[in-house]
Amino acid sequence: MCGIVGYCGYRRTAQVLLEGLKRLEYRGYDSAGICIQSTAGALDVVKRTGKISNLQNAVQEGAEGACGIGHTRWATHGEVNESNAHPHNDAADEFSVVHNGIIENYLQLKQGLEAEGTVFRSTTDSEVIAHLVAKNYRDSLEQAVRDTLFLLKGTYGIAVISSREPGRIIGARNGSPLVIGVGDNEMFLASDVTAVLAYTRQAVYLNDGEMVSITDKEFTTLDLHDRIIQKQIELIDWELEQIERQGYKHFMEKEIHEQPESIYRAFQGRLNTETAAAHLGGLNMTLQELRQVERIRVIAAGTSYHAGMIGCTLLEQIARIPSYAELSSEVRYRNPVIEPNSLYIAVSQSGETADTLYALRELKRKGAKVLGMCNVVGSTIARESDGGVYLHSGPEIAVASTKAFTSQLSVFYLLSLMFARMKHCSMEDGLKFISALQEVYDQIRDILGRASDIRDIAKKYSHYRHMLFLGRGKTFPVALEGALKLKEISYIHAEGYSAAEIKHGPIALIDEHTPSVVLVPDDFLRDKVISNMKEVKARKGKIFAVAVEGDREVQDIADDVFFVPKAWEHIYPLLMVVPLQLFSYYCALELGCDVDRPRNLAKSVTVE
Ligand code: M6R
Repeated sequence: MCGIVGYCGYRRTAQVLLEGLKRLEYRGYDSAGICIQSTAGALDVVKRTGKISNLQNAVQEGAEGACGIGHTRWATHGEVNESNAHPHNDAADEFSVVHNGIIENYLQLKQGLEAEGTVFRSTTDSEVIAHLVAKNYRDSLEQAVRDTLFLLKGTYGIAVISSREPGRIIGARNGSPLVIGVGDNEMFLASDVTAVLAYTRQAVYLNDGEMVSITDKEFTTLDLHDRIIQKQIELIDWELEQIERQGYKHFMEKEIHEQPESIYRAFQGRLNTETAAAHLGGLNMTLQELRQVERIRVIAAGTSYHAGMIGCTLLEQIARIPSYAELSSEVRYRNPVIEPNSLYIAVSQSGETADTLYALRELKRKGAKVLGMCNVVGSTIARESDGGVYLHSGPEIAVASTKAFTSQLSVFYLLSLMFARMKHCSMEDGLKFISALQEVYDQIRDILGRASDIRDIAKKYSHYRHMLFLGRGKTFPVALEGALKLKEISYIHAEGYSAAEIKHGPIALIDEHTPSVVLVPDDFLRDKVISNMKEVKARKGKIFAVAVEGDREVQDIADDVFFVPKAWEHIYPLLMVVPLQLFSYYCALELGCDVDRPRNLAKSVTVE
């Protein structure tokens, strides 16, 4: 989704802004722009549709200034063109604004301004902010922005500069993240800390209802009533190289291959062989409170929802706690009843997904206890949860989520072990659980070492226009995830189903033009899945099976098969998703798709 970068300091402003915008590319965008303020004050705006490189080519060599703001736009209001790209200026070009989020009452505000003679240059909701700031300016930019914020309904993260106050940026946040990067004689403002990581590790996160005034020397955080708020500087421990490709062709490929390490980090320091249990530090719940949990509800979207579905099955089967995952977008509006002794878990890689954040707020409003399971440290969901667990996957840049998914599963294993050991699970079984988890790194390394086998299989399947993904039990959500991965990056139409469900409808689609990807773990449902495979073959459907090493029967039925190492049955979702990630990656590669930045998608979906 949209991204913001702002800079005040001694470096070449255009270069800092463009580099920051490039770091935000992964979030998804369709146009970009910057506004540089010359030392004399004048505002120079350059915008382009398409890639940042288009913008880079258009920015004058040596375009320098006291400060500047930049933006990547992911269109919501108004088509993709240069006038709709940000920054937006007021009529006199004295104020320039970049905005993430949606101004819900923009039409009403626009009509009011037009009635007073203001001419709009774009069809966005954001442009009203620039005109309103200009109209409200009396004594300072800070005052003008503050007065404007009281008129806005909706969500925003904004950065504003003005020729009347060279060298100053005003930022404000309501529902759309903003972080201040603190340097020496330079300050940054960004919607995502990755934009400034090349320059500073020191970050200050704004909360909703907060503003910041930045110069190269200092930053001041304030509330909307002009009261100073003291904020803590947090140290970001992500390495810059973690957000670079390190020789891989795509971030997605790199992130798939990072999984042995990212899973290791999710477990690190949390598995205890002395107690045969898992210990999670940030839950903010006493032992007694944890023992009182009678049911768990997971809220999430997309890939995180699939992880939540598997997590709930694990919690139910291993810890014997009734658990259920629900799409966060649906939770918010169905007026959920909060049952006593329920624990809610909001799962989100980015920690900024609007559907999940708003559902979390609604649940908390109704008195629910909500934990966050996020990857991005300091993200809004992480901060607004009552407690939580970080994934520690490191930055996930590719739009298609891969390593965050397996880290989410890893944390669900930890939660299952933790709860199980508080109840019925013996020390012996706890230790078996831990050793099964500790084998995962090598098992995934083994799968990744055979990635070229999957590339060869993908070559045979990438020309199909439709595919079904079938699984049962814990691998049913893996089938959903495999289908999601394939469709989002290769644009091949793919649907995930419980293998048992195909006879209730989807089997009508099966013929020689619609292959199926079937997951066959060696659990007690295996024989039933084998029967489903035979049903597919009877209708001339081609099958790519992901099965467990040594399963000759699957090999005989399927056209192609990839074996994962033999493991404890609960581990198969974690192992079987990896070949599916590789399969979608190689299909997309075959089709020449933009793997890391698939069309229409955004990494962090901050609008409803
Ligand atoms: O950041 P989140 O985990 O909350 O994101 C949720 C979904 O938007 C995300 O998983 C999306 O489905 C990915 N593109 C899947 O690869």
